[in-house]
Amino acid sequence: MNQHIPSHAIRIVLAPRAEFEACLRVRTRVFVEEQGVPSELEEDAFDPVSTHWLALAPDGPVGTARARRIGRAAKAERVAVDSDFRGQGVGRRLMEAIESWAREQDLESVQLNAQIRALPFYLRLGYQANGSIFEEAGIPHRALVKSLTTQAAG
Ligand code: COA
Repeated sequence: MNQHIPSHAIRIVLAPRAEFEACLRVRTRVFVEEQGVPSELEEDAFDPVSTHWLALAPDGPVGTARARRIGRAAKAERVAVDSDFRGQGVGRRLMEAIESWAREQDLESVQLNAQIRALPFYLRLGYQANGSIFEEAGIPHRALVKSLTTQAAG
């Protein structure tokens, strides 16, 4: 059942290495249990070199995302919000945290491979499709990008 929590009661925080397991638990609920992604694909070699965020509700983590630097861009990955907490801006705030982090490092854009079903979420946040549809973990995806250097971003 959807749980509405005032947005100020959900904090978006950088996850220290010790909290990586908490990120993984959210990802497992969303990608493995809900979407059927094979569990062996969930944790990968990019986790140790990525920056991770958690969305913390009073009763614990309800969202996560990670990003890593590729040249002059940030690549956002594993953006996940627990189903009961969707539609109240948590995903948007996770993406804004990634964009702030990327700006702080003078990066020029945020790139990601979006699941087709999540496309409207990213388009709403100012991302633009950048290429054709391809499969990843058996799920159709599309590459998206958002420039951080243009005034009208967002
Ligand atoms: N279709 C249309 N619009 C959508 C949408 C959808 N499926 N999901 C979100 N939006 C819109 C919201 O209405 C909101 O618009 P508004 O600013 O006009 O109010 C905006 O996008 C931000 O939505 P928000 O509430 O922050 O999104 P969320 O917390 O529900 O998180 C996901 C969105 C995609 C992260 C979440 O649905 C999720 O975890 N899905 C499963 C995992 C997944 O697919 N991850 C993406 C992998 S690429």
